[in-house]
Amino acid sequence: MKKSLRKELLQKRSELCEAEIFQKSTSIFDTLKNTDIYKNAHNIMLYLAFRNEVCTDDIIKDLLSSGKRIFIPLTVPKTKELIISELLDPEKDLEVGHFGVLEPIKEAVRPVNPEILDLVVVPGVGFDRTGYRVGYGGGYYDRFLPKLSSSTPTMALAFEVQMIDEAPTDEYDFPVQYIVTEKEFINCKNES
Ligand SMILES: Nc1ncnc2c1ncn2[C@@H]1O[C@H](COP(=O)(O)OP(=O)(O)O)[C@@H](O)[C@H]1O
Ligand SMILES: [Mg+2]
Repeated sequence: MKKSLRKELLQKRSELCEAEIFQKSTSIFDTLKNTDIYKNAHNIMLYLAFRNEVCTDDIIKDLLSSGKRIFIPLTVPKTKELIISELLDPEKDLEVGHFGVLEPIKEAVRPVNPEILDLVVVPGVGFDRTGYRVGYGGGYYDRFLPKLSSSTPTMALAFEVQMIDEAPTDEYDFPVQYIVTEKEFINCKNES
């Protein structure tokens, strides 16, 4: 069931054109940058968009220009875990890694303890309003999110086409606290 839902959601997202992705990603960032969570965060984990994920390029530019620290995930396929590495220079630090996602080159891997993060922004395939996520099927974020300090806000960026009524969940699925779409800011705690 999760598998067919994942496929259906990926299909819908793949139908968005470049202009729609750009415009909706801009709206999402407009909402995000006005939140206290974003304004108060100094050590932010962000993904680098691939396929048709909500684009984070403008967020990265904004954070770098305001002197905040950005951390990106590096996948470890063997253990299906994420290493968090500081991104200092997007021009020099990155290469296409596993799954076709941009990841830090070997020399630019600067791992940190996930406990230092004060905002974690996650991508996904689909989400329901209670924060449960359909990912790509690796369970990477389900393993990663429980390692955060309990006070660290977790937030998904998603297009409206990625929102579903109820994500199928197993005991290991780990929800996010907030979701920002091009239409609204969802505080998942108020939705269950
Ligand atoms: N915390 C965890 N510990 C061990 N295995 C996990 C954990 N979280 C997820 N998994 C495993 O990862 C696999 C993929 O999880 P799933 O939730 O289907 O993927 P995704 O979250 O990427 O959509 C599952 O088969 C599950 O057994
Ligand atoms: Mg999961």
